[in-house]
Amino acid sequence: METKGKTKISATLKNTKKRVFSGIQPSGDVQLGNYLGAIKGWVERQAEKENFFCIVDLHAITVPQDPKDLRHQTRSLAAILFAAGLDPNKCTVFIQSQVTAHAEACWILNCTTPVGWLERMTQYKDKLARQESIATGLLDYPVLMAADILLYDAHEVPVGDDQRQHVELTRDIAQRFNHLYGETFVVPEAVIPEIGARVMGLNDPTVKMSKSYAHIKDHAVNLLDEPKEIERSIKRAVTDSGNEIRFSDDPEKAGVNNLLGIYKVITDRSKEEIEADFSTARGYGDLKTRVAEVVIDELRPIRERYHALMSDVAELDRLLARGAEQARAVSEPKLEEIKRRVGLVLPGEL
Ligand code: AMP
Ligand code: TRP
Repeated sequence: METKGKTKISATLKNTKKRVFSGIQPSGDVQLGNYLGAIKGWVERQAEKENFFCIVDLHAITVPQDPKDLRHQTRSLAAILFAAGLDPNKCTVFIQSQVTAHAEACWILNCTTPVGWLERMTQYKDKLARQESIATGLLDYPVLMAADILLYDAHEVPVGDDQRQHVELTRDIAQRFNHLYGETFVVPEAVIPEIGARVMGLNDPTVKMSKSYAHIKDHAVNLLDEPKEIERSIKRAVTDSGNEIRFSDDPEKAGVNNLLGIYKVITDRSKEEIEADFSTARGYGDLKTRVAEVVIDELRPIRERYHALMSDVAELDRLLARGAEQARAVSEPKLEEIKRRVGLVLPGEL
C-alpha cells in the first residue's frame, strides 16, 4: 500500500468532527412516518454536528418513475425539508445525482461486496415478491446507500427502524474494504428514535406507514394534507373494541399504541404524563380528537412554508446547487482516496 495515500487518509479520519448523514427518497408523498421517524429528529439536531441530508433520486429510480413526476417530487421534497426546518446555513441539503461521486463510489464498492449480502436484505426480498421484473439497481440499492454514507466519513445515520439492516450492511461493507485496502472508512452507527421509529398505518396498524400504500384511503397522513383530511384519516384509524388508553406491546392494541406514539413524539411528553392525561378521556373518540389536533398544529406551519417555497423554484434550485457544492467539497477528496486505495490512476498523478 503506498504511503502517500495512507498519510492523507488517516489525516482525514482524525480531523473530521462528528458527521451525520441521512437520505430520503423523492418517490411519492412524504408521510407522517417519514417526518416523525426521521425528518423531525434531523431538524432538532441539525446544529449539533456537521449534517448532510441527501435527496436520493438515484435510489428512487430503482423502481419505475415517471420523469416529470420525479422532477416535481424532487423539488417538492426539498421544499418540504426546508419547510420542516432544515436550515441551509446550518446543514447541507442536496440532490444525490448532482454529486457524481456517489455513483462512482457505488461502483467501486460493488466490486468488494458479495452478491449474497444483497440477496439477504429484507426490503429487497419484499420488493422482489411484489414485482414481476426487477432492475439490477434494486438489488444494488444498499451499496449505493453505503457509498452515500461512507463518502462523508459519517459517524451517525439517523433513520427509521426499517433502515437498520441497510446501515448494518454499510458497516460490513466499510469493514471489508478497510480489511482489504487499509483503514479508509469510518464505520457508521444507525441512530434510531425510541418512539416514532415505526409509525404504523392508520387503516392497518400491523403494517408500517409507507409511501407505497399512499393510494389506500386513510392509510397515512401526508405532510401536506389539509386539516380536514388529517382529521378524517385519524378519526377513521383502526383501534380495538376496548376503551383503555395506554401504551402497550399487545398486538390487539397496536392501533391505540400507534396513536399514542404519534402523540408522544409530537408533544415530547413522558408516557406516564400522557397516560395520566388520557385517564379521564371518554373512549377512543377523545384520543383521536387530541391526536388530530396536535398533528394539525404541527403540520400547519410546514404546509404554509412549503407553498411559499414552491412559488420560487429558482431560489429552491439555487439552495440545492449550493448544497451540492458543499457536498462535493467533502465527497470528491474522499472518492480520490478510495480510487487511490484500489489502484486506479488519478489524472495527472505521478
Ligand atoms: P424513505 O421514504 O424510504 O426514503 O424513508 C425516509 C426516512 O423515513 C427513513 O429514515 C425511514 O426509515 C423513515 N421512515 C419511513 N417510513 C417510516 C415509518 N412508517 N415510521 C418511521 N420512520 C419511517
Ligand atoms: N434507503 C433509505 C430509505 O429508503 C434512503 C437512503 C439512501 C439513506 N441513502 C441513505 C438513508 C443514506 C440514510 C443514509 O429510507
